[in-house]
Amino acid sequence: RTRHPGIPLPVDMMVHWRNSQGIDLKDRPILLKTASDIEAVPFEPEGTDAVHADPLHPSGRARKAIEAARTPDDDVHAAITRAQAAYRDWERTPIHDRATTLERFADLLEENRIELMALCVKEAFKSIPDALAEVREAADFCRYYAYQARTDLAPRTLPGPTGERNELKMEGRGTWATVAPWNFPLAIFVGQNAAALVTGNTVVAKPAPQTPSIARKVVEIAHAAGIPEDALNLVTGGADVGAELVSDNRIAGVAFTGSTATAKRIAHTILVDEERPIIPFIAETGGINAMIVDSTALPEQVVADVITSAFKSAGQRCSAMRLLLLQEDIAEEMEEMIAGAMATLIIGDPGDPATDVGPVIDRSSYDKLMAYRETMRPRWLATTHVPEEGLFVPPTMIGLDSMDDLDKEWFGPILHVATWKGGKLAETIERVNAKKYGLTMGLHSRIARSAEIAEDLARIGNLYVNRNMVGAIVGSQPFGGEGMSGTGPKAGGPNYLPRFCAERAISVDT
Ligand code: NAD
Ligand code: ALA
Repeated sequence: RTRHPGIPLPVDMMVHWRNSQGIDLKDRPILLKTASDIEAVPFEPEGTDAVHADPLHPSGRARKAIEAARTPDDDVHAAITRAQAAYRDWERTPIHDRATTLERFADLLEENRIELMALCVKEAFKSIPDALAEVREAADFCRYYAYQARTDLAPRTLPGPTGERNELKMEGRGTWATVAPWNFPLAIFVGQNAAALVTGNTVVAKPAPQTPSIARKVVEIAHAAGIPEDALNLVTGGADVGAELVSDNRIAGVAFTGSTATAKRIAHTILVDEERPIIPFIAETGGINAMIVDSTALPEQVVADVITSAFKSAGQRCSAMRLLLLQEDIAEEMEEMIAGAMATLIIGDPGDPATDVGPVIDRSSYDKLMAYRETMRPRWLATTHVPEEGLFVPPTMIGLDSMDDLDKEWFGPILHVATWKGGKLAETIERVNAKKYGLTMGLHSRIARSAEIAEDLARIGNLYVNRNMVGAIVGSQPFGGEGMSGTGPKAGGPNYLPRFCAERAISVDT
């Protein structure tokens, strides 16, 4: 399935959006040339030796590599001080100029496409199509938020009694902390920071410890585009650096994407200090995402969408399908077809253009997934071969007695399957809701009423009917969940920017 131009976008946005399409990966000679260009980009893993950052090496990326790429101890405090000093000037920069800077940032991201894709492949082990999608989405976020800022953030005159002028202004709040995950090291990192900056805030950004080089390159490009150096500051490291950043009382808001457990820890940190102002917290977290398939669904389409949603990106997407719910009557046939399709997946080096599924992000993730998979061995319905060396978790389909047996997000290429009885769609959706996560849900059915029931009952952020359930498009499919899956507002949607703003109402007796 290829991305289609985002039809609901305003016309001037669509022009930009089309520009951000870049290379068409269906064109084989271009794909091969891109792969060799990516191969040629040198990459030195930060603070470690190549072996410890090599996903193809048996030891994989070790903890040592992650700890070595940490920012020096006093940098977090200093970065916040710099960002605070830069705030007034940046906040007073006209919205139009901040938006133009963001558009220049998008242009430069695209110009540096090959280097950014190479970093995504070599540091985050993204496949080439996934690496390209990262650059596209990052540029889309910048252009979309630039557009939204121009249209929505300008001061508004409001009605009032004669002799009184009422105005509503949207202003920055101060210095935001942005904390990003490794699984979208480019797109999500850019999206959080672009939103905070275009609304007039300054930022201290902390990427995931697994992907510091991508973040460093992005910040360099942002500065080259005209975002003042002290308005966007980078600190690198793991949970300790993140915790130090969000616990600083000078931080005016936190935008976080990552696990539900970390979100709760941050929320606790922000709220416990009695002396601290109450600040906004945006959390985008994990999910136990289900796809429900009934007996009217088109089997071949279901298979293609299951493979994409559960196994592509090695299942390392928050939106990925974790639970496939098949109507009893078709379960056996569908499982057989999915097993057949799994056997055709090409698993290997992410830099090889033929690869469908690469390695997982690090040794600790690999060990956790492999241990879980082993405990479920008696329930395997299908699995695949992988290269002997490296952090390759074999895509695996696991049969459950009951859909209620899955109560945790397994962040990798592991799909659970359970069945449901025909005529019980509403009850099935309620049982998914009862898991308390609410990120994505898929439905495959040719019965129009079933789609209405899902729309009505599903307590999730993104519902996908008769298609795959990953790869939300900026401006067309605003992305984010509810419940244990996050606070909202949705990234890439019209309500995202206002959460970064302070609203000020001014009333003057004229
Ligand atoms: P994680 O929670 O381990 O880490 C995310 C970020 O938080 C990292 O930068 C980490 O260093 C930092 N961090 C960890 N502890 C912290 C603390 N106490 N204070 C401040 N910062 C801290 O998540 P991850 O493993 O990097 O990413 C995978 C998770 O992210 C999955 O659960 C996935 O579902 C979720 N995710 C959600 C979305 C979404 O949009 N909903 C998108 C991508 C990933
Ligand atoms: N926005 C990403 C997706 O939809 C996480 O897959």
